[in-house]
Order: sequence, then C-alpha cells, then structure tokens
Amino acid sequence: MDRVIFFYLLIAAASLVSISGEVEDSLNNPIRQVVREEKDDQLLNADHQFTLFKSKYQKTYKNQVEHDHRFRVFKANLRRARRHQLLDPSAVHGVTQFSDVTPKEFSRKYLGLKQRFRLPNDTQKAAILPTNELPTDFDWREHGAVTHVKNQGLCGSCWSFSTTGALEGAHFLATKELVSLSEQQLIDCDHTCDPQQANSCDAGCRGGLMNNAFEYTLKTGGLMKEQDYPYTGRDHSVCKFNKTMIAAMVSNFSVVSADEDQIAANLVQHGPLAIAINALWMQTYIGGVSCPYVCSKNQNHGVLLVGFGSAGYAPLRLEEKPYWIIKNSWGSLWGEKGYYKICRGSDNICGVDTMVSTVAAVHTIPQ
Ligand SMILES: *[C@@H]1O[C@H](CO)[C@@H](O)[C@H](O)[C@H]1NC(C)=O
Ligand SMILES: *[C@@H]1O[C@H](CO)[C@@H](O)[C@H](O)[C@H]1NC(C)=O
Ligand SMILES: *[C@@H]1O[C@H](CO)[C@@H](O)[C@H](O)[C@H]1NC(C)=O
Repeated sequence: MDRVIFFYLLIAAASLVSISGEVEDSLNNPIRQVVREEKDDQLLNADHQFTLFKSKYQKTYKNQVEHDHRFRVFKANLRRARRHQLLDPSAVHGVTQFSDVTPKEFSRKYLGLKQRFRLPNDTQKAAILPTNELPTDFDWREHGAVTHVKNQGLCGSCWSFSTTGALEGAHFLATKELVSLSEQQLIDCDHTCDPQQANSCDAGCRGGLMNNAFEYTLKTGGLMKEQDYPYTGRDHSVCKFNKTMIAAMVSNFSVVSADEDQIAANLVQHGPLAIAINALWMQTYIGGVSCPYVCSKNQNHGVLLVGFGSAGYAPLRLEEKPYWIIKNSWGSLWGEKGYYKICRGSDNICGVDTMVSTVAAVHTIPQ
C-alpha cells in the first residue's frame, strides 16, 4: 500500500476512535469529559482564535454573560470543525463567521428554505437534453452570467437569492445584459402559497421556496433592479414594487430531473440553476471540495449552481474529485470568496440533485 495512503488511514482510524471515545466519555464520565475538553481547548488555542474571530468579523456582545456564552459556543464549534475535517477530508473546515452560533441558531437565522417541496401551477418539466457532448469543466462566472456575491445577513431569505441568481443568469442569456435583481421585492411582495399545504408560503426572512418565487415573478410581471429596490434584510415592510421599473421577466420555469448529467446539460444550455441543499457542513466550511462521508438529504438552504469541474484539489491529494460550483449568499468572506464546492457523482450528496429549477427570461422588456 502507498505509504501516504497508509498514513492517512491511520489518522482516519485514530480520529474515528477518538470521536467514539468522546461520545463514550461524555456518557460514562462527565468529569473526565470536561477535563478532556479543557485540554482540547488549549490544543486548539481557543482563546487566541476567539480573539482573532471577534476582530475579523467585528463581533461585539452586549455584556459579559453573552460574551462567555458565545465563547462556549465558539469552543464547541472548534471541536465540531475538527470533526467535520476528519469526516470531510477533501474540504477545509475551521472558523467561519458562524463560529459563535449553535447549529440550531444557524439553521433558524441564516438559511430559510421551506421544507415542503411544492410545484406551483405554472411549473413545467425540463425537456431531457443530450449529454454526450458535455464539457468536463464549465463555469458561468467566466461567461459573465453571474453577479457579485451578495449577503442575506440575519434573515432566512436564501430562497430569494437563489431565485434572483437564476433569473439574473437567464436574463443575461436572453439579453446579454447582466443586471443585479431585487431580493427585497421578493421578501416584501411575494407571499405565494398553496392553501392546501400548511407552511408552504413564501414568508420573507422566515423562509420560502424558489419555485414559488418564480411563480410570483411570472404572475406579477417581473423583478426590479437591486439598485431600485435595495436589500434591507427586514421582514414585514410594505411592498414597494413598481411595474414601470421592471428589469427582468420570467418567460417560464421548469424542474430538472434528479440526474447529474441532466443537471449539467441544463446548466450549460439555460444558465445558472436554482438548487436546494442541506447546509449542515457549510457552517464550518472554508474551502476545497466538500464530500462528507455522511450528509442529510433534507434540504434547508437555497443556493445557485453556476458551474462544475472535473478534478478539484484535495489537501491530501489522494483523489481528485469532480465537483459542483455553488454561489452562496453569505458574503464574500465566507467559503471560497463566497462560493462552495461540493462533490459530484456522489449519490445526491446533501440533497444537491433533487430540487433543481431552471428559468427562462423574456428577451425584451415591454416599455
Ligand atoms: C392552480 O390550479 C388549481 C387546479 O387547476 C386551481 O384550483 C388553483 O386555483 C390554481 N392556483 C392558482 C394560484 O392559480
Ligand atoms: C413608478 O415609477 C415611475 C418611474 O420611475 C414613477 O414615475 C412613478 O411615480 C412610480 N410610481 C409609484 C407609485 O411610485
Ligand atoms: C421558455 O421560454 C423561452 C424564452 O422565451 C422559450 O424559448 C422556450 O421555448 C420556453 N420553454 C417552454 C418549455 O415553454
């Protein structure tokens, strides 16, 4: 066996033992667990890392109690990042802007995809495309179809960013013009619902669905520009949509079958795709190709698929993984300048293949 591989397996085995050890310890001997955690925190240099974290992300806490609580959460997240690293070796995990929130707070405050899968009335099914001449690498950023990375802030509005991203791309393909579109319009004005399904409505910072938002955009006429209807990330504002200022219009939208070649073919032919994903591993993600050994397929985050590659780097260079390139909406300090890579050809990892939509834009906006 290759010596490097052997070394790596040894580390992996040791880490698995240590993870199950952690669990066992905490069950059998809480005191030993506390001592162990303290030793761990020293090893991880938690104090120093927390200082750096606070300064990098300009974190301030309202009082000492809150500060101490956040430091405890931070330490738990350092340990969690280390576990993520062991279970996802082709990515890099560590301190992110979300290192002082618990996984629960994270999914409540920074994601925002409704769990109910719903297909509004005007949803079509994407035609099956030929896949025999697909490129091995493709990236819509290189073709001018992707706007800058945006930031949803403390608002569960991921779904609106996924929607604008897809329509920005489709509008670019239809008109050759790249225009940043308004998420706030969707947050304030789109309450698309299925009365038969509780909790399926688009509800601003409390979550929504991309297909609902395409339906709204089709029905209402279109979306205004970001600059004409800027983002505030606040809920419950009056809808300020003005029909005379529409900048992009939906012609139709379709769901893409859960087949990775079809997804790639639709991406290449129709532009960036609105997709859903389970974001658990993204809280600690720094870079590389994420390909965790286990990931729930229960999607809780809406993002934008902009490209794919055939061989992403893995720190230990054991294998080169094909991957998807995903635009996120957590600002450009997160991940790889705001982007995420997740492995392709891995059995619908994190649910990445099963809620994929493509949108087509109208070529000329009537005046
Ligand atoms: C969707 O279609 C159903 C069945 O045709 C109809 O009852 C319902 O009113 C439609 N909903 C909307 C929002 O148009
Ligand atoms: C809508 O926009 C047009 C063009 O900018 C403007 O003249 C009009 O007053 C606006 N309408 C409302 C209700 O704000
Ligand atoms: C969707 O709209 C585009 C652009 O108008 C058009 O070319 C295409 O045929 C439409 N697709 C479907 C399935 O209606």
